[in-house]
Amino acid sequence: MKKRKIIVANWKMNVFTEKEAKKIVSEVKTRTINVKNTDIVFCPNPVFLPSLYKMSSKKYLFGVQDVSAEERGSFTGQSSFMHFKPYKVKFSIIGHSERRKIGENDELINKKTKICLNNGIFPIVCIGEEFRDEHGGYLDFIKNQIKSVFTGIPKNQIIDVVLAYEPLWAIGASSAMKPEDVFEMYLWIKKCLKETVGTVSDNIKILYGGAVDDKNSRDIINIGSVDGFLVGRASLDPKAFSEIIKNSEK
Ligand code: PGA
Repeated sequence: MKKRKIIVANWKMNVFTEKEAKKIVSEVKTRTINVKNTDIVFCPNPVFLPSLYKMSSKKYLFGVQDVSAEERGSFTGQSSFMHFKPYKVKFSIIGHSERRKIGENDELINKKTKICLNNGIFPIVCIGEEFRDEHGGYLDFIKNQIKSVFTGIPKNQIIDVVLAYEPLWAIGASSAMKPEDVFEMYLWIKKCLKETVGTVSDNIKILYGGAVDDKNSRDIINIGSVDGFLVGRASLDPKAFSEIIKNSEK
């Protein structure tokens, strides 16, 4: 059976009113009414969840951009999965490079991955190299990131992890990675996954992120062979984001 695609909107810290948030979601819903085999996940700032979650359905889901590795306690400024429970939050982005940049390390990301898995949230764990060296050191870097993501994850939870490959040099850039290069990385990630978790790896979804837009998405998904996208800037534009979603089914 063909795997369902996942297209994730990472709004980052860009949408500031409930009205704007609702407008994006409802316009995307209208424009993608005929899309059948794709899950669409909006990750707004959590302040909007109480009003937005009512717009969720089987196909349109909500996620968060981060979650605390702890359930409760003296963790000023953090949000627990417990905060998200009433709002049907199904996904959380974990270890985005913008969080790694402010100090999140592989160990913390593994802990956050586990707290998601144990509490009914699918973690979308971000991996990706900062730069490419000519000796291929970035390949080992990715392999080590993958090993760390899955450390101590029980066998029955492995397929609930979604990996998002986002080379840091493509995030926020003017152009995305070439589709052929995405495919090369897809194969490498598959190989590392097989080595790390065995054959269940066939069912782990691999997304691509970094400068995805309505123009490049069709080739990246078809040639790159990925299971979906993590979209930043283009997810703020309902028309462009809807095109990305539609392209994922072509
Ligand atoms: P971008 O961001 O699509 O704006 O490049 C992607 C991301 O940070 O996930």
